[in-house]
Amino acid sequence: MSVILGIDIGGSGIKGAPVDTLSGKLLTERHRIPTPEGARPDGVKDVVAELVRHFGHQGPVGVTFPGIVQHGRTLSAANVDKGWIGLDADALFTEATGRDVTLINDADAAGLAEARFGAGAGVSGVVMVLTFGTGIGSALIHDGVLVPNTELGHLWLKGDKHAETWASDRARERDDLNWKAWAKRASTYLQHLELLFSPDLFIIGGGISKKADKWREHIHLTRSEFVPAALQNEAGIVGAAMVAEQRAGGRRAEEAPSPVEGGAA
Ligand code: BGC
Repeated sequence: MSVILGIDIGGSGIKGAPVDTLSGKLLTERHRIPTPEGARPDGVKDVVAELVRHFGHQGPVGVTFPGIVQHGRTLSAANVDKGWIGLDADALFTEATGRDVTLINDADAAGLAEARFGAGAGVSGVVMVLTFGTGIGSALIHDGVLVPNTELGHLWLKGDKHAETWASDRARERDDLNWKAWAKRASTYLQHLELLFSPDLFIIGGGISKKADKWREHIHLTRSEFVPAALQNEAGIVGAAMVAEQRAGGRRAEEAPSPVEGGAA
């Protein structure tokens, strides 16, 4: 069993738990600390360090971020403080926690976890995971391999609006839509994605996945299948741990003596 601490940074809460990366199961209850006002890097960094201390965790840590993450830098901040843009957040968290931290976009983490352990387990081909919450996050996975940072919540839809401004769960609340009216918007968005990517399966996640009985019958697609996410609010934590485990595995392989040096010849 390989145990990695997964931490999921969200707009209202930062949650963590140790994960068995072989089974994708959390080993304890999640611990949640409210996101500090404004979600500025310094405040968030302190909460991440507090979670690591809370679990007394020694090994690598995986952390999700609700924006673009490329080579350890956070490059966008749609729903958090703009101070994240261009920041070496990997280094910030690594220094604050004293652990080897791996950072990943929140929807990418949820996507990896759903594809391996959740609603996409055993599905081959193209799986597209969408998280509907404050924004819309996306993960594109082909035969278990992730194409990171697809950011399809920012696809322009309906004039000059980003899809997430019009079809997220926050838009549903803001515009006081009933589930049928929201599902009509979500269907328009999903049909556009269907045209662009032809996924074999859509997995619909985020906060709304708990209420699938309210929207499921109102979503209409042309050719793809869709299912509600299975891991719900654990998916980000599990995916963060998976990606930290992958990186730690890569490092171990690099450090191992090569077969030739090891005297195989
Ligand atoms: C961000 C994405 C994120 C999504 C869900 C969007 O606004 O641009 O990176 O995955 O919200 O948090």
